[in-house]
Amino acid sequence: MVKELFSVHKLSKIFPNGNPGIRELSLSIFEGECLLITGSNGSGKTLLMRMLLGLVEPTEGEIQFRGMPLYRAIDTLRREVGMVFQDADAQIIGETLEEDVAFGPKNLGFPQETVKTQVQAALTATGLIEKRQFPPRRLSGGEKRRLAVAGILAMGGKALILDEPFANLDWPGVVQVLDSIRRLKTEGKTLVILTHELEKVLALADRLIILHKGMIREAGDPQAILDRLDPAYGVRDPRRTYAQVRDCTWLTA
Ligand SMILES: Nc1ncnc2c1ncn2[C@@H]1O[C@H](COP(=O)(O)OP(=O)(O)OP(=O)(O)O)[C@@H](O)[C@H]1O
Ligand SMILES: [Mg+2]
Repeated sequence: MVKELFSVHKLSKIFPNGNPGIRELSLSIFEGECLLITGSNGSGKTLLMRMLLGLVEPTEGEIQFRGMPLYRAIDTLRREVGMVFQDADAQIIGETLEEDVAFGPKNLGFPQETVKTQVQAALTATGLIEKRQFPPRRLSGGEKRRLAVAGILAMGGKALILDEPFANLDWPGVVQVLDSIRRLKTEGKTLVILTHELEKVLALADRLIILHKGMIREAGDPQAILDRLDPAYGVRDPRRTYAQVRDCTWLTA
């Protein structure tokens, strides 16, 4: 039987200033699935992720992690779920890349040798190994994102939530992150990816969710959802391909 990792029941976050927040959102996230969550700016993706991690209190509703109320499961959750935040700067801790990536596995109490091997592997997988002694604050935006991904790879968690993992990445960067995602999927990890950049990762997704104004408007098979895509959600069907450079503009029909 497929187990539920997160179970979200009628979750709401109402902001006094009238921002959409999250409204009566119910959702199950299953172990081992690759779930893609998309939606326009302000649709509630980041807010939902922060609530899943227990960083934002709901106004109403409940979140369970492995069948336990979130507040009781928070230690297990921190151990098992790695996260890449949309703001890569917020995640930098160490003075060197190596130290930064080592922070997570050290914190989890892994033996020194294991930490070393996992840091090495994570920095290699994200193409940062040559910069291991470099100060993270001086990295470029894309490199910082790679570093955040390396950080959660090194922790070896069972589930990963990635908020805009492709933002600022160049082509090799996208390929490296996708390679890591594919490998993690093969290893049976649960992956929740919040992104506008559907075209990059759609092929790896088991399920697609479209958020709009804090509500789930679509959830299910990506192909079927895109076939009936409502333009009101502000999501573009990425299956269109361009033949010519001059076609590559969003300003013509
Ligand atoms: N602390 C807060 N106070 C008031 N409104 C907030 C707060 N946090 C989030 N919001 C609002 O909640 C809505 C959802 O924001 P969220 O960051 O989740 O959007 P998003 O889907 O991640 O957008 P993007 O694609 O731009 O990353 C927005 O309207 C935002 O302004
Ligand atoms: Mg966001």
